[in-house]
Amino acid sequence: MLTVIIAVSFNSCKKKDDDDEPTAFDTELYNMAKETSGFVWFKNSSSALPKSSGTGHSQPFLRTRYNAAAATQLDSTGQILTGATFPENSLIVKELLNSSSVLERYAILYKKPSNENADAKGWVWGYINADGSVAEPTSNKGSACTGCHSQSDNIDYMLMKKYFP
Ligand code: HEC
Repeated sequence: MLTVIIAVSFNSCKKKDDDDEPTAFDTELYNMAKETSGFVWFKNSSSALPKSSGTGHSQPFLRTRYNAAAATQLDSTGQILTGATFPENSLIVKELLNSSSVLERYAILYKKPSNENADAKGWVWGYINADGSVAEPTSNKGSACTGCHSQSDNIDYMLMKKYFP
């Protein structure tokens, strides 16, 4: 007699409570963030930086890159220009790395005023895990992010220059 045991996991389709199912746009943004060609690194360096004292991001290391549109607001050293305003289609991707410098999550800013997920300044806020699951859906319009990113000396919401001058 052959006995076949089928194990059914009732949890296999569920995600952790803090991970929401991605919408089609979350997945589109995730795919944009995964692309690395054509980006310029903050301060022209792909080295991981230790998170700053002001951070709201739990991972210990980070590195930040700018697509061609966003890179127009960087100077020749890869630092953000004083008084910069990022043009439409700017994509800024902060890679959040764990203590072994393995990528855990993307923090994403995408300037697209016409997007239904954009906030009043035209920014879409993405917070997407390395595996594509969503930490903070774009449909929340940055409600978990803008309070902190509006602090003094932000540049069009950017904080990298303030904390890494
Ligand atoms: C309590 C403050 C705080 C909160 C909340 C916060 N951030 Fe940040 N964020 C920072 C700081 C400080 C930096 C500068 C780098 C660092 O030390 O992490 C930063 C950097 C970034 C960057 C790199 C671009 C730049 O220059 O700022 C992105 C993108 C980003 N955050 C996205 C987000 C998103 C998306 C959320 C919400 C889900 C969020 N942040 C919530 C403090 C915060």
